[in-house]
Amino acid sequence: MVITPAWCGEAFGEQLHRLLSDLHSHPELSWEETRTTQHILSALGQLPGVEILDIGAKTGAVARLAGGSGPAVALRADIDAIPQHEAVDRPDRSVWEGKMHACGHDIHTVSLLGAAMALCKAREQLRGDVYFVFQPAEEALSGARYLTEDCRLFDAIHPRAMFGLHNYPELPVGTVGVKEGILMSFKDVFEMRFIGRSGHSSMPQKNIDPIVAAAAFIQSAQTITSRNVGPLESAVVSICQVHAGTPRNLVVDDVLLSGNIRTLDEAVRKRVLRRFEQIARGTAEAYECRLELDLHPIVPGVDNGREMYDIALAAARASLGEAAVAVPPVNLASEDFSVYGQYVPTFFYFLGSGAPGRPLYSWHNACFYPDERTPVYGAALLAQSVLSAQAAL
Ligand code: NI
Repeated sequence: MVITPAWCGEAFGEQLHRLLSDLHSHPELSWEETRTTQHILSALGQLPGVEILDIGAKTGAVARLAGGSGPAVALRADIDAIPQHEAVDRPDRSVWEGKMHACGHDIHTVSLLGAAMALCKAREQLRGDVYFVFQPAEEALSGARYLTEDCRLFDAIHPRAMFGLHNYPELPVGTVGVKEGILMSFKDVFEMRFIGRSGHSSMPQKNIDPIVAAAAFIQSAQTITSRNVGPLESAVVSICQVHAGTPRNLVVDDVLLSGNIRTLDEAVRKRVLRRFEQIARGTAEAYECRLELDLHPIVPGVDNGREMYDIALAAARASLGEAAVAVPPVNLASEDFSVYGQYVPTFFYFLGSGAPGRPLYSWHNACFYPDERTPVYGAALLAQSVLSAQAAL
């Protein structure tokens, strides 16, 4: 038996569309997903055999569908929205100005609810338990760590594999991107302060000017990607904030810089971070400044290992059809789904969400408007991933 969108039925599509419209019009930011959580719990409460597991999380939900003593499989969706003005004229537009499901996490939430419905219907086919993880605060890149470290998710559930997905408007609805190996980037962030000595701007011999040091550093840091990273390797070093100074006739005491570093592999990441710190310390010394540097990891890369790739590819072909499967390019955005990969084998799909005839706007854009039918495909794909994984593991 294979779970396809057609197997799920026509009424299923309408049901998911209603859930999507409701969540889309009520987007909640990271850690504020209380209404969303209530709606998830009430939808799960209507599914016979689905049991809510209380792991003490502030928002989000975890549930279990018992399926026997075979390998358990977990499915994860993120549920939060972002601060953005919705510029799309759609019937289920955000009712809260300045908040929008502009990354499509409403689609992920409904895909996972749909997968739970489909698996309830296909319950005889289950060989093991299924866990449904509705994760808060992905946009803050902290929800997965909160669930795994603070709430000890993997003490409460014991999956042998875990699947997740992100909608992907660059691929049309009904298709899916399935890629082996690295899919999304490692992210490290920094905040640093060049500290000099302030004074009257007419007397440079008495001051130490941290603005000159910071300017030199900003230029030098860009040589990491051009001179320390191979032409076929990938890294991005972005200085996103520079703060210093108020009056025009004063050399300031300090300059604050902050930003982030993205890489696709651990060896390159280590090299980039080492050079970043060397250049920062060397520049501070060369310009007689003191340096305060806080450089720390946020999330590892999303990496689809070989064994999980084989299972996912088979599930995607079976559920959505051979012709629906594409290989997406690597994406240098980050996703905290990668945190689960430190505990259990994982696979992450890019689910096509492009609407035919609509202009393409990608994640976080005010005009982001993915196809409303996307959750039907997401639900079938996730549900079939469970069956495929339980058969293979
Ligand atoms: Ni997202």
